[in-house]
Amino acid sequence: MNTCVVGLQWGDEGKGKVVDILAEDCDIVVRYAGGANAGHTVIIGDERFALHLMPSGAVRPGMACVIGNGVVVDPEVLIEEMDGLAQRGLDVADRLFISANAHVVLDYHKQEDQLREQALGKDRIGTTARGIGPCYADKVGRSLAVRMADFRDLDGLRAKLERIAEYKGKIFAALYGAAPIDAAALFEKCRVYRDRLVGCVCDTTQYLHEAVVAGRRILFEGAQGSLLDLDHGTFPFVTSSNSSALGLGPGCGVPSRMVDRFIGLVKAYSTRVGSGPFPTEQDNAIGDRIRERGHEYGTTTGRPRRCGWFDGVAVAYSARIGGIDEIAMMHLDTLAGLDELKIARAYRLHGQETTFFPGDAADLALVECVYDTLPGWREDICDVTRFEDLPQATRHYVERAEKIVGRPITMLGVGPDRRQVILRAR
Ligand code: GDP
Ligand code: IMO
Ligand code: MG
Repeated sequence: MNTCVVGLQWGDEGKGKVVDILAEDCDIVVRYAGGANAGHTVIIGDERFALHLMPSGAVRPGMACVIGNGVVVDPEVLIEEMDGLAQRGLDVADRLFISANAHVVLDYHKQEDQLREQALGKDRIGTTARGIGPCYADKVGRSLAVRMADFRDLDGLRAKLERIAEYKGKIFAALYGAAPIDAAALFEKCRVYRDRLVGCVCDTTQYLHEAVVAGRRILFEGAQGSLLDLDHGTFPFVTSSNSSALGLGPGCGVPSRMVDRFIGLVKAYSTRVGSGPFPTEQDNAIGDRIRERGHEYGTTTGRPRRCGWFDGVAVAYSARIGGIDEIAMMHLDTLAGLDELKIARAYRLHGQETTFFPGDAADLALVECVYDTLPGWREDICDVTRFEDLPQATRHYVERAEKIVGRPITMLGVGPDRRQVILRAR
């Protein structure tokens, strides 16, 4: 049984938690897209892990962790993460497999990300400044790209870094007045990265296909959310990879027909970090309340997340493009105490009602939401373990969301801990 968990909103839906729960019945956890822009939280009792590049399965001793070719790897972050896990008794070096084809994020990518965002001023994307866009741009451009495979040939890597430093240094100086890039310093850092990581570099596509044949159970861990997908999200306010379920095949070489179960992850409301249209946003006391109760501050950047009502139109769209079979809804507990709750069931755009999410960010900025209004509940539901024991208003809310999205909601989050989850039969 192979499973994929993917966010259906703008990220931070609780992927770390759900992957950790499902990993109990799996042998391998795979990241296939994004990079250290991700921040996946796993909470086990008093212990909290925030993982950026390492698959969330790493917190389970012995679990094999794969970083697929579609991921952009920041070696500095990855090594820091490996060391942090080792200090907590979780050695990963002998169970981590990094694709030789994965591209490498280096300092000049992060520098470029920051310089470009600063230059955009109020029109900035609001990136995580982790160098994601510039690294994927180099991947597509090919001639200036560095891959994990390059760590196997230090002389070749040195020559490549000299070429890159000269080319990018000239551009950064001309456009932003930046200082030259020190190719020798860059190379010295890469030498350290090589010593730590080259033993984990392999052909992960072969590894995964052999694992499928051997009947090992694979869990694919999406990063970001479907609405941040480069091709299918709210461009240009997106990330630079195919962060929807559609990125799985290109990102690790396993066709989606080999995945038995696609689980779409949502929060019981919506959040977004960074710029871009957000139809159900509540930039008011309701949004503030959700932010405080849900601790909605970025795992990677610490930025306050923008909060709003559950957007059934957006989630239905993500479920359609991702071929989603079932939905896991987190943070139901966070909504307790609000008098009434709203769910967007349609949009009004150019005078017409539609239930299809517009593929264009400019159109999305114009939509008005058509809401269903439902009664709220006062009870704290953090300790509830069965759907039948939830307050009637909570059950009604879940059933309404399910109807609008058109997929069964099979898992409900009622708190951050791995045990705070309610399973529901399909
Ligand atoms: P990810 O990027 O999708 O892995 O999500 P993040 O880790 O960035 O953000 C999700 C946050 O919500 C984390 O702080 C989780 O500990 C927390 N969380 C996950 N599920 C629940 C839930 O059901 N209830 C509450 N209150 N918190 C949750
Ligand atoms: P996880 O995996 C939420 C957002 C950034 C910005 C846009 C582009 O934790 O859900 P980038 O640095 O990728 O070029 O930024 O995408 N973004 C995320 N938002 N969760 C994430 O990851 C995100 N990764 C990127 O805030 O709006
Ligand atoms: Mg996150």
